[in-house]
Amino acid sequence: MSDKPPVEPPGSEITSERLYLRRRDFLRNAGLFTGTAAAVAGGLYLLTRKQRRFMDAYVPDAGAVTGPVVKAKGAFDTDEPRTPYEDVTTYNNFYELGLDKEDPARLAHYLKPRPWTVTVDGEVHEPKTVDIDQLLSWFTMEERVYRMRCVEAWSMVIPWLGFPLAALLSRVKPTSHARYVTFTTLMDPEQLPGQQRPVLDWPYLEGLRLDEAMHPLTFMAMGLYGKQLPAQNGAPLRLVVPWKYGFKGGKSIVRISLTRTMPLTTWNMAAPHEYGFYANVNPAVTHPRWSQATERRIGDFERRPTLPFNGYGEQVAHLYAGMDLRENF
Ligand code: MTE
Repeated sequence: MSDKPPVEPPGSEITSERLYLRRRDFLRNAGLFTGTAAAVAGGLYLLTRKQRRFMDAYVPDAGAVTGPVVKAKGAFDTDEPRTPYEDVTTYNNFYELGLDKEDPARLAHYLKPRPWTVTVDGEVHEPKTVDIDQLLSWFTMEERVYRMRCVEAWSMVIPWLGFPLAALLSRVKPTSHARYVTFTTLMDPEQLPGQQRPVLDWPYLEGLRLDEAMHPLTFMAMGLYGKQLPAQNGAPLRLVVPWKYGFKGGKSIVRISLTRTMPLTTWNMAAPHEYGFYANVNPAVTHPRWSQATERRIGDFERRPTLPFNGYGEQVAHLYAGMDLRENF
């Protein structure tokens, strides 16, 4: 990584749409992107209006989450204004459901979140394969209002509903050899038609160090805004790690495996010099093709500075004491 201070992108390059297309250009240049690149015309406000039409057409009102829900304000909740539900559910990255931001909502009906089983295995004393509704019954759902910062330099504030990953991992009793956790997204090209094309190496894989996975901020979401998680946001179960770039949050998880060695992860395999394993939000480490110094909160006009660890440094910086975060980006 460069040692130069972060450079602001030129004015012509600051829209998230442009950054997004540049990330997609990378896929096309690498020969990975085979679809037709539909031009994303117009600015944010046009796009938002377009999203609203998508919302009306494609986002049915998801049912409430069944079972007990704790909605008291938690220690980690941000008071910042929440990104509207319609933006959270129509401006998505879920490449298995298309490459444009509106595609996942439009194609969400392909994904069937029930029946669904989740396997937790690997370096654990009590591996389990459970039905998603049984898993839901194990935990009291908590609301967590977190910032989410995408590597493409846009961000949102989302009220998730779910449970701490540590609660699930404790249930399966990690062995003393467990050091990492891998998260695997469903592999089913009928439900996730984007998997019919080799855009990325499917299934989507993400990973954490075990201490990161056990951190109380690390969350498994099953809902948002008090409703069941819409398919485009990763139903029925999705990882949320608020101090890391959004791509760490694997969607529609079917398997959580504890391992001895650092797992392979999808974006790291696709472009190791651009997307590291750690992927901690870090305004001082410039992405090779754009600055990470600032971000645009969806719905805002002005950009804002990006905070180290996405503003969660007080809680998590100690996990990386003594590590060179430029090397381990
Ligand atoms: N998970 C899967 N399986 N496939 C994806 O393409 N995209 C990631 C992440 N999880 C992705 C994924 C990226 S790049 C981001 S920014 C977030 O999901 C976006 O989550 P959201 O659409 O709920 O805002």
